[in-house]
Amino acid sequence: MGHAIAIALYLHLLGVAVWVGGMIFAHFCLRPALEDLSPQLRLPLIESVFGRFFNWVGAAVIVILLSGGFLLMQFGGERATWQLHAMAGLGVLMMLIFGHIRFAVFPRIRRAVQAQKWPDGARAVGTVRRLVVINLVLGLVTIGFAVLARGF
Ligand code: HEM
Repeated sequence: MGHAIAIALYLHLLGVAVWVGGMIFAHFCLRPALEDLSPQLRLPLIESVFGRFFNWVGAAVIVILLSGGFLLMQFGGERATWQLHAMAGLGVLMMLIFGHIRFAVFPRIRRAVQAQKWPDGARAVGTVRRLVVINLVLGLVTIGFAVLARGF
């Protein structure tokens, strides 16, 4: 395996670790721990945490896309299996869902926190939660396709 391919695969997996690991932490550790806090405390905290996490995911998405595109050029064309295309397709779908979370739903949380409209904020956080669950499941399935692409 050439150096460039090894580096691309390393960066690809690093991006996946940050994104999927972060979603597991947010959903299974952070969310239940904040459940009993009042909205006045919980929503500004969530806004602050999401703002930082989404920057990391944004960077991870760029790295995954560039490294994945590069890897696809190496393994693509004739040799690309349907599992590889499934990973790329699901990966793009996950990125679109993330884009919706970041640029459509998250600003609603920001505005609600600034205006102290807690019910609006709680509703938007509920939407993020559902979309993150979808992306988490897609992420786990995508990793499965990536492994199957090896030809087991
Ligand atoms: C934009 C989308 C993506 C493209 C174009 C893409 C493309 C690729 C390619 C070409 C490989 C190399 C396969 C090989 O070594 O035979 C790869 C590896 C891998 N990708 Fe992706 N990928 C994308 C998104 C994702 C996402 C979102 C995940 C996980 C959530 C993911 C998980 C993996 C894993 C775990 C591997 C390592 C597989 C292995 O070496 O056995 N990829 N990807």
